[in-house]
Amino acid sequence: MVDVLLGLQWGDEGKGKIVDFFAKDYDVVARFQGGPNAGHTLYVQDKKVVLHQIPSGVFHPGIVNLIGNGVVLDPVTLKKECDTVASFGIDLKKNLFISKRTHLILPTHRALDKAAELSKGNQKIGSTLKGIGPTYMDKTGRNGLRVGDLLDKNFTTQYIKLRLKHQRLLDNYNFQEDITAWEEEFFEALEFLKQLNIVNGEYFINEQLKAGKRILAEGAQGSMLDIDFGTFPYVTSSNTISAGVCNGLGVAPQHIRDVIGVTKAYCTRVGGGPFPTELDNETGEELRKIGNEFGATTGRPRRCGWIDLVALNFACMINGVTKIVMTKADVLDAFKELDVCAAYKVNGIETKEVPFQMDREKPEPVYRQFAGWDTPSSKATKADELPATMKTYVDFINKYLGVDIHYISNGPGREQIIKVK
Ligand code: GDP
Ligand code: IMO
Ligand code: MG
Repeated sequence: MVDVLLGLQWGDEGKGKIVDFFAKDYDVVARFQGGPNAGHTLYVQDKKVVLHQIPSGVFHPGIVNLIGNGVVLDPVTLKKECDTVASFGIDLKKNLFISKRTHLILPTHRALDKAAELSKGNQKIGSTLKGIGPTYMDKTGRNGLRVGDLLDKNFTTQYIKLRLKHQRLLDNYNFQEDITAWEEEFFEALEFLKQLNIVNGEYFINEQLKAGKRILAEGAQGSMLDIDFGTFPYVTSSNTISAGVCNGLGVAPQHIRDVIGVTKAYCTRVGGGPFPTELDNETGEELRKIGNEFGATTGRPRRCGWIDLVALNFACMINGVTKIVMTKADVLDAFKELDVCAAYKVNGIETKEVPFQMDREKPEPVYRQFAGWDTPSSKATKADELPATMKTYVDFINKYLGVDIHYISNGPGREQIIKVK
C-alpha cells in the first residue's frame, strides 16, 4: 500500500520533519514530483539538514528512497546533497534509487527560468529559479533529456541539440550571462549521477508493492501551488496533489490508502500571487519572526497570515485527505487572539468556495475569532498537556473540514510532535 504525505497550503508546511517522523513505519519513501525548488528541513543528530531532491526518509538506514519519474532532477544539487547525507554515514548505494524516466534539469533550463522571470517584470511568479518550469516545459514539449539517456552513447549529441534550441530562446530574451561554469559542474555531476542506482522506477515500486512493502509518497510544494488547482499562474509546474502520485511513480490509484495532509496552524506563502489571509502588518511580522519564516531554499522572507479554512477545505477535497497533521502550533503561543478564515467575501457575497481566479476576484477573508493558547504549548509532550484553548481551535477546524487533525507538531525538533487522535 501507498500512503501519501503532502502540503495543503503554499508549501513549507513542515513536510520534511513529518516524513522523517513517520518514516519508521515505512519501507520505502518516494518523491513523485517537483525538484530542487523544494527545501525540506529535518534535524539529524541535532544538526539541521535541508533536503531538496532526496526523499526525507534517507536518514533511516533500513529505508529505501526513490526519486520517481515525476521529479525533475538537477545533478549538481543532487551531488551536493549526496555529499551531505554521506557525511552522516549513510550509504547511498544501499538506500537511494533514481528512476530512468526522471527528467534532467540542464544549466540552460536554469538560465531560461531566470530570463523568463526577468521578462515578467512586476508580474513575476517569484520562482526559485532552479529551472523547474522550463524543464517541465521540455517534458510536455517532448524535448527533455532523462536520467536513462545518460546511459546512451548519444547523450552528448542529444545535449548539444537541446542546448542549441535553448540558446535561441535565450538570445530572444537577450540573456547575456556566461553559463560555462554551470556547464562544467553539470558534466562533473553527471559522472557522479551515473554511479548511483538508476532503475526502472515503475517496476521497482511495483515490485516493492507486490512484496507487501509499505510506501510513503512525499509531496513537495503545496496543494495551492498545484499546476491545475493552485492559484494559477502563481504556481509551480507539476501536480503537487495526491493524483500526482500515480503518474509521478507509476502506481495505480487502488494502491493508495491514507492521504496525510500537512498544514501550519497559520499560513505562509513565499513568492508572488494571491494570499487572502496575508497580514501585511505587525502581526504578520511577528509570525515571521517567531516562526522563523524564511525560505529553506532561497532564504526569502515568507509572507505570513492566519489559517485559511476555505483554501484548506478545497485542498482536502482535491486530495482526498484522510488525516491532518498541524505543524508550528507553538508559534501561536505568543498571540492573545487568533483569527481563522471561515469564508470569503467576493463582490460582497459570502462564499466557502475558492474562486476561479483569486487574482481578479480578490476574496476578502471572513474571520472567526478564537482565544490564544492559555498556556505555552512547546513544552507539551502529551495531548492532555496541550492548552485547552488549542483544543477549541482544533475542534473547530476538524468540524469545518470534516477531516481530523491526528498529530500536532509543537516545535522543530524530531520529538516535538503529539498524537491527538
Ligand atoms: P517543508 O518544505 O514543508 O518540508 O517545510 P520547510 O522545511 O521548508 O519549513 C518548515 C520550517 O518549520 C523548518 O524550518 C522546520 O524546522 C520548522 N518546523 C517544522 N515543524 C515545526 C513546528 O512544529 N514548530 C516550529 N517552531 N518549527 C517547525
Ligand atoms: P517545499 O517543497 C514554498 C513557489 C515559489 C514560486 C512558485 C513557483 O519546500 O514546500 P518554481 O521554483 O516552481 O518556479 O516556483 O512556487 N515554491 C515554493 N514555495 N515551498 C516550496 O517547496 C516551493 N517550491 C516552489 O516561491 O512562488
Ligand atoms: Mg520548504
